[in-house]
Amino acid sequence: MNSTRVLVVAALLASLDLSAADPTANKLVIHADQAKETINRNIYGHFSEHLGRCIYEGYWVEPDSNIKNVRGIRQDVVEALKKTKIPVLRWPGGCFADEYHWKDGIGPRGQRPTMINTHWGGVTENNHFGTHEFLDLCEQLECEPYICGNVGSGTVQELSQWVEYTTFDGVSPMSDLRKKNGRAAPWRVKFWGVGNENWGCGGNMTPDFYADNYKRFATYVRGYGSNRVFKIACGANSGDTNWTAVLMREAGRRMNGLALHYYCGSGKRSRSATQFDEEDWFEQLKRALRMDDLVSRHGAIMDLYDPQKRVAMIVDEWGAWHAVEPGTNPGFLYQQNTLRDALVAGVTLNIFNQHADRVKMANIAQTINVLQAMILTDKARMLLTPTYHVFEMYAVHQDAKLLPAEIQSSDYLMGADKIPNVNASASRDSSGKIHITLCNLNPHAPAEVACELQGAKAAALSGRLLTAPDITTHNTFDQPENVKPTMFTAFKTTDTGFTTTLPAKSVVVVEVK
Ligand code: AHR
Repeated sequence: MNSTRVLVVAALLASLDLSAADPTANKLVIHADQAKETINRNIYGHFSEHLGRCIYEGYWVEPDSNIKNVRGIRQDVVEALKKTKIPVLRWPGGCFADEYHWKDGIGPRGQRPTMINTHWGGVTENNHFGTHEFLDLCEQLECEPYICGNVGSGTVQELSQWVEYTTFDGVSPMSDLRKKNGRAAPWRVKFWGVGNENWGCGGNMTPDFYADNYKRFATYVRGYGSNRVFKIACGANSGDTNWTAVLMREAGRRMNGLALHYYCGSGKRSRSATQFDEEDWFEQLKRALRMDDLVSRHGAIMDLYDPQKRVAMIVDEWGAWHAVEPGTNPGFLYQQNTLRDALVAGVTLNIFNQHADRVKMANIAQTINVLQAMILTDKARMLLTPTYHVFEMYAVHQDAKLLPAEIQSSDYLMGADKIPNVNASASRDSSGKIHITLCNLNPHAPAEVACELQGAKAAALSGRLLTAPDITTHNTFDQPENVKPTMFTAFKTTDTGFTTTLPAKSVVVVEVK
């Protein structure tokens, strides 16, 4: 264990007095009188890449499609995502970003050049969905755009001109070109990524080489007029804390955010999204819980260089990564989504909430038809996944004040291994309502939780529940409502708060008024 980690673990243990804890009991103490941090709504953000059927067939169907659309963007997905209050959308990649040349994606669609999507199936990209279409999509979704620039195979000038093209409100070669292409007013684009995974598909760079490149490219990512730019450096792959240390040391002062990517993979024995056993379930959730350790460790290193926490941690790719659905293109990363994925989302979002002092944005991969998606489409049909429902239920935390919480959980045992049964986070919104999101990871046993509210009273309680008959239950195009939220009323008020019983394998949101 390195010294930073020892410090983090010691600090965590010191904050919890577990000496008198009953190992079979679940207890949640919520300090409603100690609200300090705001949970940045962008923690509930998304990532969508030119990969498989995410953009094409997912968002984009062409304006002359029979599927209801506005300027080529399908309306069923826009309406569904707006219900989750999608706050920010990262695009165009991913690995695709470092091969993407944005000028190929502007102008009359029929005249745009094509390219090979080398990373994702070797298919031909027709560039019909480009800068104008992406920013139109963000306007329709009422969310912030987050554009990831090309550092791996692009030029400083290319990225600099992309910023000018989209955001300069005056006379210039790039703003004139934008006007010629039908958009008079500039867009507001705050979030700019300077490369993606430049330790891998974005150029196989060392951290020192990338730090120099970051500084060079970022110098020319300029804020024009009132468009203040927020520059995000490529961050580490999972546990690579050396990358974080080098980037913070060499370039920390010149960035607003530093990314982190962590995919929690799949099961232990089966990588199938829908055919797995309890060992796979356990392993998947254990891997999802690792996010807490990663955020703590990278955060501790960021603290060394940036104790004021000026630089945001941006977890701009995360989620489960299963085997593709049988019979589908392996390069398209199309996977189903079960109740297990809902639990992955539930615990991960709770972890991000708890780290709201450093984590200011996160982007689940990848919204539609790819990896841990919210939505799956089949031509005109669309279904909402269990993960979608978690995002919709957790939207109450967006921009709410985090309420510090101590969780004492009983163990969920698997052979010699264990993880906590219960995972939670809490916040208070601007109207004063408290929301607590709880996950019971145990697929067999309900979890009774005693919830103590310090500095608040539980005058009225209501709730919503997401669970299903089996760990593998999922929604299909023929049965799209196998997993969906229902009302939850299993509470009892107590002198200090309330007790609740979480059904086995469930995600619950409780509202306290
Ligand atoms: O999300 C799929 C891929 O995973 C992204 O393109 C890349 O950044 C990551 O390795």
